Amino acid sequence: MKWKITEDILYGADYNPDQWLNRKDILDEDIKLMIEANITVISLGMFSWSTIEPTEGNYTFTWLDNILDSLYSAGIRVFLSTPSGARPSWLAHKYPEVLRTAPNGQRNIFGERHNHCYTSPVYREKLTIINRKIADRYAKHPAVIMWHISNEYGGDCHCELCQEGFKKWLKEKYKTLDNLNYAWWSIFWSHKFTNWEHIHSPVPHGDQTLHAKNLDWKRFVTYMTVDFMRSEIETLREVSQNIPVTTNMMQVQDNPEADYLLDYWKFKDHIDVSSWDSYPAWHLPGHSFIAESIQDIPVNDFRRASEVAFHHDLYRCIGDGHFLLMESTPTNVNWQNISKLKKPGMNILTSLQAIAHGSNSVQYFQWRSSKGSSEKFHGTVVDHSGSNKTRAFKESAKLGQILKELKPLSASNYKADTALLFNWENRWAFENSQGPINTRQKAYLETIKKHYYSLWNQGVQMDIVSGEESLNRYKVVVAPMLHMLSTQMVGILTSFVANGGKLITTYQTGYVNDTDLCFEGGVPGPLSDILGIKVEAIDVLHQFENIEIIDGKTQKSYTVNDYYEIVETTTAKTLATFKGGVADGKPAITTNKFKKGEAIHIAGRVTTEDLNLFYSDIIKNSSLNSSQEEIKSFTGNLNFQIRSDNNSQYLFIMNFTDKEETFETSFNYKDMNNDQSGNNWEIEGYGIKILLKHID
Ligand code: GAL
Repeated sequence: MKWKITEDILYGADYNPDQWLNRKDILDEDIKLMIEANITVISLGMFSWSTIEPTEGNYTFTWLDNILDSLYSAGIRVFLSTPSGARPSWLAHKYPEVLRTAPNGQRNIFGERHNHCYTSPVYREKLTIINRKIADRYAKHPAVIMWHISNEYGGDCHCELCQEGFKKWLKEKYKTLDNLNYAWWSIFWSHKFTNWEHIHSPVPHGDQTLHAKNLDWKRFVTYMTVDFMRSEIETLREVSQNIPVTTNMMQVQDNPEADYLLDYWKFKDHIDVSSWDSYPAWHLPGHSFIAESIQDIPVNDFRRASEVAFHHDLYRCIGDGHFLLMESTPTNVNWQNISKLKKPGMNILTSLQAIAHGSNSVQYFQWRSSKGSSEKFHGTVVDHSGSNKTRAFKESAKLGQILKELKPLSASNYKADTALLFNWENRWAFENSQGPINTRQKAYLETIKKHYYSLWNQGVQMDIVSGEESLNRYKVVVAPMLHMLSTQMVGILTSFVANGGKLITTYQTGYVNDTDLCFEGGVPGPLSDILGIKVEAIDVLHQFENIEIIDGKTQKSYTVNDYYEIVETTTAKTLATFKGGVADGKPAITTNKFKKGEAIHIAGRVTTEDLNLFYSDIIKNSSLNSSQEEIKSFTGNLNFQIRSDNNSQYLFIMNFTDKEETFETSFNYKDMNNDQSGNNWEIEGYGIKILLKHID
């Protein structure tokens, strides 16, 4: 990462002027309206391949020259995109190998976007040519400040080329078939491979039971996607070393079946700037915590805001401390089952939430509504009326003004001394494992979000980590359901605790190694010494079964759902015990001193409310960096976040409900909106305040 963070907070949108090239009036109007809306950056060109290269080898750049020139003259900068996310029909028809092959072996026909094979040499070759032309022509254009690589990579292809690529990748990883057969435990059901050529990607009409193969396939898809992205980046770098690159990542899919098959942690070393596209379902009933879901749960934007915050933190950490909000909607999307408009105030609030977590931009999809096709009813800044009098436009312009005034904030950072471990490979391994629960109730991601919520809700500033980087700078690391442990991860966690850190683990920790083989010696595998426990068995609960955890000191009881483990302590001390079920009287929460640190294990799945209590103790005992110190009291549900630099501390107070609330700060703060100083504040429904305090 060698990105010099921006000197202001960028504000803009995806812009698709190629849809309007025969409408000079509209293109001229766009620039006028962009200035009026305080737009400072535009993402351009991600779906422009067929306009730039309408027929093979014939390029038309004049339109793009004109757009870039007029944006630049208006003081607007550009993230210029490579067009690999969608291809022209001539390309797909002449070179069908560029299209994706489904798991059943059928090659797709032309259409959609992201419908391409990452392995295909022809796709890469054609893309390299156009990317090179774009770089040659625009690397020196003063408007271009970043390369936007493709658009939301994702998905897999099962063609012959990918099968070959998979086998090659496996050969490099395992060297011999004996190693592979052992790692995959392929002796099971006589699946032993005697020839590399017999290996095929996991598909429904073939094999999907070799779990280690499934896991390796997902790793391979990530590898091939990163390799594809790297080849795009290399072409641009040959021409321009000084323009940073980003690619827009997506929200982690709630449904593991709908996963994009990408471990974004592996993108970290290849991009200069991290960015993501945020489209939460605001104002819809419920939230996505499966483990506690009930059909008629009321609208809970507060809790949903924590899910968005989790993603902001995740992408900030993938970006080594900074990120950009690359896409969001000023109003509504058009692809959720119910796509509601953001209520008044909500766009400003949710955009500034990204800034609170370390983003240096707010951007939308998209600037102007498309006249036709599938996204014509997606929210935009300028809708089909073309008017600057709509609420969307007026709120957008107001936000642009606010962001301009937040310029001093652009050099500040988000600091955390607590980390939450979220690992995609662990998710893949765990969600694919069979037993003892085989439904969405397994809920790895939801559990991560639940722990996140309890800490976020109490003002703890958090980083999200993969477990593959040094953790020694943190006081506390929370690692729920770390079912799969690599040797590297064990080393990192061991060193973290040995050096004085506090590690928190839960049920479903330490079951398999990184090729999905169970640990001899049982659970929690190589973490047994650190945790000071042995897990004898894991059991699950039906909804009508009740067991509890009783805290040894306070006698407080916690409700257990879904999972609980039968634990024996070796060196750990028991803090709480189970009541009921086969674990009656056995340890439920344990703590173990290991060298300079401590490891706590929670052996049953507890409710959010109980986690809140658990973490409030941890926060006090470990004196975690929390915005709570800044707040004396508050009403309702508010969320607080802090960005700071050497001289200033920026306190963000966010109200994700429709009720006005009040709060008192522990120190004198200045409201950045109107320069008023004080300690007692009011905050309107769906409102946000940014308060400033100078630090010596
Ligand atoms: C994003 C995508 C955009 C647009 C948007 C609609 O995932 O990058 O191109 O389709 O969704 O919400």
